[in-house]
Amino acid sequence: MDEILRHLHSIQTTAEQELLSASTQEQLAGLRVKYLGKKSDLSQAMKLLSGLSSDQRPLAGKLINETKTLLQDAYDRKERELSEQETQRKLARERVDVTLPGRRLPSGTKHPLTQVMEEIQQIFSGLGFSIADGPEVELDYYNFEALNFPKDHPSRDMQDTFFIRDDVVLRTHTSPMQARVMEKMTPPVRFICPGKVYRHDADITHSPMFHQIEGFCVDTHITMADLKGVLYLFVSEMFGKGTKLRFRPSFFPFTEPSAEVDISCVMCKGKGCRVCKMTGWLEVLGSGMIDPNVFGFVKYDPEKYTGYAFGMGIERIAMLKYGIDDIRLFFENDIRFLEQF
Ligand code: DAH
Repeated sequence: MDEILRHLHSIQTTAEQELLSASTQEQLAGLRVKYLGKKSDLSQAMKLLSGLSSDQRPLAGKLINETKTLLQDAYDRKERELSEQETQRKLARERVDVTLPGRRLPSGTKHPLTQVMEEIQQIFSGLGFSIADGPEVELDYYNFEALNFPKDHPSRDMQDTFFIRDDVVLRTHTSPMQARVMEKMTPPVRFICPGKVYRHDADITHSPMFHQIEGFCVDTHITMADLKGVLYLFVSEMFGKGTKLRFRPSFFPFTEPSAEVDISCVMCKGKGCRVCKMTGWLEVLGSGMIDPNVFGFVKYDPEKYTGYAFGMGIERIAMLKYGIDDIRLFFENDIRFLEQF
C-alpha cells in the first residue's frame, strides 16, 4: 500500500509539473498519452491493485481515480489556456489595420473620342435634340440616292467608298440618318446621329474608319439663322466663349444652300499659327439647308417645311480641342496617350 501511495504521489507531482509547463498543444497531446493514456503509469498502477488485500484495494482504487481526475483537470485547464493563446495569436495575425490607406486598383478611363462624343451629345441634348443611331452597313439608297447624289457622282466611286455589294456600302457619312429618321417621323424633327463611318483613306489626318455626328432639324419656318444660332451655341460650349464662326459657301448634294463652317483658331485665337496654316481659321463642319429633293424622297412637303443639317468629324473636333496632330493616335491604344484624358 505504501508503495502505491508513493508511486501515485511521484506520478502526480511530475505529471502536474510537466502538464503545467507544456507550451504547445502538440506537447500537451504527448503528455496526455504519457500520463492519461492506456499505457500510462497510472494505468499500470491499476494492475498493482490485484496484489493488495481486499480491504486496502477500494482505498487504493479510489486514490488512483482521484489522481487521475486531478491530472485530467490539470490537462483540461492547460488545454483551455493553450487554445485560448492560439486563438489570440491567430487574431493578432489576422488583424486588419483599418487606418491603412486602400490599395488603388488601376482603372481605365473613357476613350478621348468617347468623351468628346458624349460632350457633343450633351450640348445638343441641352438644345432639345434627340439622339438616333443607324446601320454602318448601309444601302446605297440611303447613303447616296435619297441624299440627292446623282448616279454618276464621283463620291460613289470605289476610290472613297467600301462596297459590300453593288447596292450595299459601308456608310461614308452619317448623313443617311437624315433620310432614315425623316421617312419614319413627321416634323418637327430635331436629331443628332453619332456613329462610325468608313472611307478608303489613310494618312495622318485620315483614318479608314472614323466618327461623325450628324445633326438636323425640320419644321415650318426653319431658316439658316436657326442653323447659325445652334452652331454658335455649340462652338461656344465646345471650344469656349468668344470662339468666332465663319460660314463659307460650299456644295453638298443634299443641302441648298450649303456652307462650310470655320471657327477662329483654337490655338492662336485667330492670329495665325502652324495649326491654322496662318489663316486664323479652322474648318470644323459641313452644313446647309436641306435640299427640297431630299424632302421628296422622305415624302415631306417642301412647300410647308424647311430644315437645316450639319455634319462633323469627331476625330477632327477632338484633335483641335486637345491639340493632337496625328489621327492614328486614337486607334493605337497606347496607354501613355490614352491616360492623358
Ligand atoms: N456628310 C458630309 C460629309 O461627310 C458632311 C455634311 C455636310 C453633313 C453638310 C451635313 C451637311 O449634314 O449639311 O462630308
